[in-house]
Amino acid sequence: MAKEFKRYLVTSALPYANGPVHIGHLAGVYIPSDIYTRYLRLKGCDVISVCGSDEHGVPITIKARKEGVTPQEIVDRYHAVIKRSFEGLGINFDIFSRTSSATHAKNASAFFKKLYDEGKFIEKTSEQYYDEEAQTFLADRYITGTCPKCGNEKAYGDQCEACGSTLSPDELINPKSAVSGSVPVKKSTTHWYLPLDRYESFLREWILDGHKEWKSNVYGQCKSWLDGGLQPRAVSRDLDWGIPVPVEGADGKVLYVWFDAPIGYISATQDLTPDWEKYWKSDDTKMVHFIGKDNIVFHCIVFPAMLKAHGDYILPENVPANEFLNLEGDKISTSRNWAVWAHEYLEDFPGKEDVLRYVLCANAPETKDNDFTWKDFQARNNNELVAVLGNFVNRALVLTQKYYGGEVPALGELTDYDRQTLEEMGAIKSQLESNIENYHFREALKDAMNFARIGNKYLADTEPWKVIKTDPERVKTILNIALQITANTAIAIEPFMPFSADKMIDMLAVEKFGWEQLGSMGLVEAGHKIGTPALLFEKIEDATIQQQLDKLAATKEANAAAEAAQNIAPQKEECSFDDFQKMDIRVSTILEAEKVVKTKKLLKLTIDTGIDKRTIVSGIAEHYSPEELVGKQVLVLVNLKPRPLKGIESRGMILMAEDACGKLRLLSPDEKTMCGAIVG
Ligand code: MF3
Ligand code: ZN
Repeated sequence: MAKEFKRYLVTSALPYANGPVHIGHLAGVYIPSDIYTRYLRLKGCDVISVCGSDEHGVPITIKARKEGVTPQEIVDRYHAVIKRSFEGLGINFDIFSRTSSATHAKNASAFFKKLYDEGKFIEKTSEQYYDEEAQTFLADRYITGTCPKCGNEKAYGDQCEACGSTLSPDELINPKSAVSGSVPVKKSTTHWYLPLDRYESFLREWILDGHKEWKSNVYGQCKSWLDGGLQPRAVSRDLDWGIPVPVEGADGKVLYVWFDAPIGYISATQDLTPDWEKYWKSDDTKMVHFIGKDNIVFHCIVFPAMLKAHGDYILPENVPANEFLNLEGDKISTSRNWAVWAHEYLEDFPGKEDVLRYVLCANAPETKDNDFTWKDFQARNNNELVAVLGNFVNRALVLTQKYYGGEVPALGELTDYDRQTLEEMGAIKSQLESNIENYHFREALKDAMNFARIGNKYLADTEPWKVIKTDPERVKTILNIALQITANTAIAIEPFMPFSADKMIDMLAVEKFGWEQLGSMGLVEAGHKIGTPALLFEKIEDATIQQQLDKLAATKEANAAAEAAQNIAPQKEECSFDDFQKMDIRVSTILEAEKVVKTKKLLKLTIDTGIDKRTIVSGIAEHYSPEELVGKQVLVLVNLKPRPLKGIESRGMILMAEDACGKLRLLSPDEKTMCGAIVG
């Protein structure tokens, strides 16, 4: 029998405060959790949604070091940016806390202390890589070296991205610290470990037997971890940023970020309400963790083991983790700036918060990785939001204004078709509910949009604009029904598109509805005066989409350049002075330039070498236009053996610099020089 719950505790993965949030985070975690929470709130459930920024860990210290600021400055900056992005998108946590708060330090510390005092940890001393220059132990990710399997020189201490092997730092050949570049040394250090192996049978029973309803991607990952056998995991680190290990003699050691962060959910709840224990300590609370797939092991294995070890707290009832969202076919990457950042979207698309919410939900990577493209964004806006939702609501309201001065007409006798339409609405309601409750938000969004689809179809089929001429009484019923569907649509879309739902409530000039009213008639009463209709959505033009694509193209180019800069070709074999002297290089002026027909790359140039005027065919058409070239001085190798190119005899070669990305630049004397001047 399904368990009965009295209240809900919704958590969303605490985003690292070392960068802003992007569409991948939104689609994977925060939009689903917001939809779920809004739905429960609308239903009148006792629900709280907690989140906050994850402010510890090595990446934050690295970023601070790179920028020459303190870690606190980094987390202050991104905590603010992230918080504003969530607010801007209507992602309404009851609290957006932070793990650098005093409450959290106290709480995480007490959690550790309890486990420590009860002997739930094991203590182990081992040799680990230490960077003497930066005076810091190195996390696996911050040691680079040559992969023993494939020879890639840029492998990490935990993984080689070239061949995909999982590595340990000890396997790397020629290890180097990514922090300072120096060669690390081995140093012994003591840490506390949570012996996960002792929780294996509990976890097997709890997940593999008890939670077969979890999403298959989540269940599958848990199963493979459990089948692989669990190992003790270190819960402390040698680092000067984090929550100090509350044990005598543990100077310079802090709680591992993945130990303290999930406790952040508890701390956030404490910061939210003095009644926090009700949420964390009663069996009739349903706790749901919204996360991305890279967080599964921590939320399904490690944190539950911690909670079990502690003993006072409930376990999650579900962990609906999503897969990843890609952007225009490539993996989203913070370091390569390959992302659509939430704060930039809000700047570029003011008033279009719901469009992003809609597209990311419609495309959410619920069962597999998915792709976000700007074209799809535009198409969904124009063909779905504008054409279906916006169009229906607008027609219903505008016709009411036009025919009845905005006064809701009375319902007359219903036709079979009317009844059928209303029944259809009732049927979607339960489907929508079950989809949300089972974390199928993409399907749920379709259900919600179906209210508008039904309305659109209803107007198209009943044609009130025609019937008004022949049977004005009938039109009253049609528009009354259309307005009821509008009100129902406003309820149904609220969890997904709260801004638009609010606008619809304003336009209908009614009080906000509760979820229980969904599916009913009489939401707007006859005689009630509606407000002024306004468009809910507007078409997004090609030019707007192009701007975003251009921005991404520029990022791609910058990345290629940065990568190329790391791939400077090595020096060629030595040559003698005589070898060099054989080349006759002269300053020349380009007199004429024209494209060589039927080629992409070639220009035919007429140049003055000082010796003569001659023709040279040069492969620079993709880098310079003919107009830019005329009058330019360049360096020309004039005694290169003439050769025919596309039927034109080319006599010499224009010298150019080619960077590692293949971009060509001409070389010119630094001021006007006589043609024929010898270069050497
Ligand atoms: N900061 C982590 C990430 O972005 C998520 C932490 S979730 C928590 O992947 F439970 F640990 F808080
Ligand atoms: Zn490799």
